[in-house]
Amino acid sequence: MCGIVGYIGPKAVDSVLIVGLEKLEYRGYDSAGIAYFDRNEISIIKEKGRIADLEEQIKKYPVEGHIGIGHTRWATHGEPSKVNAHPHMNRDKTIAVVQNGIIENYLELKTELKSLGYMFISETDTEVLPHMIDRYVKEGFDLEKAFVKTLHRLDGKYAIAMIGEKNPDRVYFAKDGAPLILAEGENLSGKKELLLASDVPAFVPLAKSAYYLNDGEWGYFDSTIHLFDRPGAQINAFMEPVAIKLEDISLGEYEHFMRKEIYEQPEMLERILAERIVNNETIEFSELKFPREYLSKVARFIIQACGTSLNSGMIGKLYLEQVAKKMADADYSSEFRYRNPVAGGDTLVIGISQSGETADTLAGLREAKSKFLKVLSFVNNINSTIARESDGVIHLMAGPEIGVASTKAYTAQLTHMLLFAYHVADISWLLTSEEKRDLIKELKTIPDKMRKILQYETKIKEIAERLKNRNSVLFLGRTWNHATALEGALKLKEISYIHAEGYAAGEFKHGPIALVSAEVPVVVVAPKGEMRTKLISNLQEVKARNGEVFAIVTEGDDELASLADAVLEVPESSEILSPLLTILPLQLLSYHTAILRGCDVDKPRNLAKSVTVE
Ligand code: M6R
Repeated sequence: MCGIVGYIGPKAVDSVLIVGLEKLEYRGYDSAGIAYFDRNEISIIKEKGRIADLEEQIKKYPVEGHIGIGHTRWATHGEPSKVNAHPHMNRDKTIAVVQNGIIENYLELKTELKSLGYMFISETDTEVLPHMIDRYVKEGFDLEKAFVKTLHRLDGKYAIAMIGEKNPDRVYFAKDGAPLILAEGENLSGKKELLLASDVPAFVPLAKSAYYLNDGEWGYFDSTIHLFDRPGAQINAFMEPVAIKLEDISLGEYEHFMRKEIYEQPEMLERILAERIVNNETIEFSELKFPREYLSKVARFIIQACGTSLNSGMIGKLYLEQVAKKMADADYSSEFRYRNPVAGGDTLVIGISQSGETADTLAGLREAKSKFLKVLSFVNNINSTIARESDGVIHLMAGPEIGVASTKAYTAQLTHMLLFAYHVADISWLLTSEEKRDLIKELKTIPDKMRKILQYETKIKEIAERLKNRNSVLFLGRTWNHATALEGALKLKEISYIHAEGYAAGEFKHGPIALVSAEVPVVVVAPKGEMRTKLISNLQEVKARNGEVFAIVTEGDDELASLADAVLEVPESSEILSPLLTILPLQLLSYHTAILRGCDVDKPRNLAKSVTVE
């Protein structure tokens, strides 16, 4: 939530900041702004709305300067408006600050500053920062000390960048709880440039190496990086090469990241399988440092995650139960963290997160650690806070996911949960070589089956036409595809704003069926397998009440096709692998429904890609 950038270098500061902010727009898009030094004085430009709106403003005021900071906002305190947009300044306009996160004690600080005569113009928590720094400067501290003294007054989780006229050659920064990365690049004439950002895409392709700040670290950069730990001791910023390439974060031939990311799934799966399966018979996670003896003795797994990641976790729970024969639960992180979970020392808590920064999932892992439980995370961002705080990490290898609606991360999570369950079963001597070979053989057929589903896009668009004017849609599935129904409903509601709910089909008669009418269609996920006949009964119940049924079926299932109003086919697979296929038509269905309704699929209203506040 919110993205911040900072720059010092030979390029025009506005262009670097704008490009960086555009890449961070997935983190929030309510308002945006930049502050920069123009002949040693701070200038500021901000605007309500998207980065494109800010860019329009910038065109009106030619910017000169090479040092600055920028922000794209997801509103927490105060409505989306120009006055609440960052950067925020002190009254003298000599200090400008951007912040990502929450200053929890801002009301207390605000009251204190007001009693000293400070006046506030915005409703944000961030505005206390420039005033508090100003106060300490006026008390006689230099800008650096004033910055640090202010940091010591803060409760909350944040990443901050600041420029101040007392040090017109510096960009200050601090991190405590929200991500912040420093980066170094070199322009063509060999001049060094230094950057900071909430996420790596903001400085691709400019930066060659990056440093991921730890909580409590702060500092500034001028011609080089000056980094300090919380108590103030100078430390080295060990830079790592930036692995993300420009094409990974560009649209290429696609109009939207969501569609690009849906289409990337077959190749992504091939990449994952090539990495995880060794010699066609062993499943390996080279980054997972847990000893096999430990993992095989884990008696219970608790998966905790949010949104799409929880939906994949629900299927992960089934994999662990059915394949690895372990006790497993899946829970909302936001509940797990507060329900004082009871668990023995042989429990392993799993967090699943694309971003690796989701506040509730992180808090769930911290809660588990506070109970001396080991934690394992499945993350797409291997440098994220969740990855760094976990005892063990499995990298999802989905590549950068930019669309706010998660798609390829979901199938990467499913694949990794499945492989992990097989790995646990294997090291627990529960699998025969034949069973392993069969799984691997079948898994390798899935990418081409996904490609086949993508070829049915025209048919999917036709069904989207039939959904686009509905107010409500229900999704039903069972066992392996119960979570598919939940995920299909989540996708539809978040990007098309059509009310949608997913249900375990067996629960349908216990209430939700009351919603069925000619106006409320039902999507039934019914690939071949044990639950197919049960789902046919649900389908009949809907038809008997004038409901329209769209079904996800296995190719050639003429019986189901004859009962439903329309079907979307997926190639045949074993039931356990079916969730890797059945979700694809639902991802495309929500995409096309949203497009037909004129929605911004990559930046749906009210949402942000990475939910770093509670
Ligand atoms: O980064 P995470 O996987 O932890 O994010 C969890 C959810 O916020 C995320 O999956 C959200 O539900 C997406 N908008 C779903 O498309």
